[in-house]
Amino acid sequence: MTEESAASGQAWDADLYDKSFGFIAEFGAGLIELLAVQPGERVIDLGCGVGQLSAEIAAAGAEVIGIDGDPEMIARARQKYPDIEFICAQAEDFSIVGPIDAVFSNAVLHWVKEPAPVIAHVARALRPGGRFVAEMGAHRNVVTITEALYQALAEQSVARDQVDFPWYFPRTGAYVTLLEAGGFDVTHLRYFARPTPLDNCPNGLSDWIRMFGGNFLAAAPAGGEARLMARAEDLCRARLCPEGRWITDYTRLRFRAERVGEEGICV
Ligand code: BEZ
Repeated sequence: MTEESAASGQAWDADLYDKSFGFIAEFGAGLIELLAVQPGERVIDLGCGVGQLSAEIAAAGAEVIGIDGDPEMIARARQKYPDIEFICAQAEDFSIVGPIDAVFSNAVLHWVKEPAPVIAHVARALRPGGRFVAEMGAHRNVVTITEALYQALAEQSVARDQVDFPWYFPRTGAYVTLLEAGGFDVTHLRYFARPTPLDNCPNGLSDWIRMFGGNFLAAAPAGGEARLMARAEDLCRARLCPEGRWITDYTRLRFRAERVGEEGICV
């Protein structure tokens, strides 16, 4: 997964993910600063994937538990970081004994199409005052790519409603409302564009589509997948690859929220 698979049920190619999409963890570095780990804290890395950010949080002195729904990712994480605990579980039903100081999540929550149960579960895991620090795809994330895929499908006579859109890219207000309803006070919030290069993808945007766009490929007529990817690339090229380097149109929602205490105040 990572996030990814934690909640979506999508199976991941851990090898390709590790080799070509390592930038996902690299972009998580700023999020670790926002987490501001204190030595000895117990921290969950929700949707840990192959565990790079779990290892960085552990290096900052925390006791880390990495959780991911994809067995292949968890196997890879255990192999790479044998001193860290990794659990294979879904984001809405992991079980941890004892209170947790912080839940961290990078580039995963947009795979959670029903966010309220996950937010509630994170709140249950945290001690009062514990923090939920996360970054996810937000409103208009990868919109150039998805619109190109829809258009390329339409050209193969596939309507939009035949695609099971796999992501939840919220506006900030919608997610703040969910967090507050789930027992959190939001203490930091930022929505921003993050143009994201695909420098380690030898087949450019097609690699991205193959890795993440399975639901679009599944909607293509039999044998039409390669045509779909090629047409989507053509449609995106002027905007996302004007000088021969693919740069995707990511937008991010980054937040820090604190679990409200029993008295209804942040403690
Ligand atoms: C993202 O990190 O924003 C993302 C990754 C894969 C698919 C869609 C969005």
